Amino acid sequence: MTITDIVPHLKALHITGLLIWCGALFALPNMMARHDPAIGIADYQRIRRVSHYTYTFVATPAAVIAVIAGTWLILIREVYEPWLYLKLLFVAVLVAFHAWVGRTIVAVAESSGMHRPPAPGLPTGVLCGTILVILTLVLAKPELRGLGIPDWLAEPQGRQLPFDVPSR
Ligand code: HEM
Repeated sequence: MTITDIVPHLKALHITGLLIWCGALFALPNMMARHDPAIGIADYQRIRRVSHYTYTFVATPAAVIAVIAGTWLILIREVYEPWLYLKLLFVAVLVAFHAWVGRTIVAVAESSGMHRPPAPGLPTGVLCGTILVILTLVLAKPELRGLGIPDWLAEPQGRQLPFDVPSR
């Protein structure tokens, strides 16, 4: 068995992680929109607790798994292409979105009823657009040579990493 044999498994792990991550990112803004004390104290407490658990025990671990599996895929598949760097830029947007969701959940918890829940429409639109761009980049793998990516970013440098990457 060579290291490249694990690529399909890593991809499966990567895609499972990002499906759960993105699913939770879609659900959470809609759950946060229900963070309204007007819905009654029992429902308010339940939706707040479920949002917190979904963020902490579903969205964040799934994001970590997707990012770690994706990073290994870069190293093993030696993908050093402009589309990948552009994809990582949009993954950064997804990470910023993730951080915004976490910040909003904490703000609701700490403002004891003073917080106004955000409307879910705009966040859902931003998320849809970001995922669409990422999937287009990773599936179409466009050339994008015109972006002027420096040569050192486009090929392996053969330097020793702080850890060993098994050779093929
Ligand atoms: C830091 C985060 C990420 C890294 C480092 C990463 C990296 C990678 C790499 C290197 C591949 C293999 C490409 C190939 O085999 O040619 C891959 C595949 C894939 N990635 Fe990611 N990725 C990340 C996040 C995401 C996100 C957030 C999405 C979608 C929302 C995504 C969707 C996919 C899909 C669908 C594939 C399979 C493509 C195929 O096999 O043709 N990735 N990723």
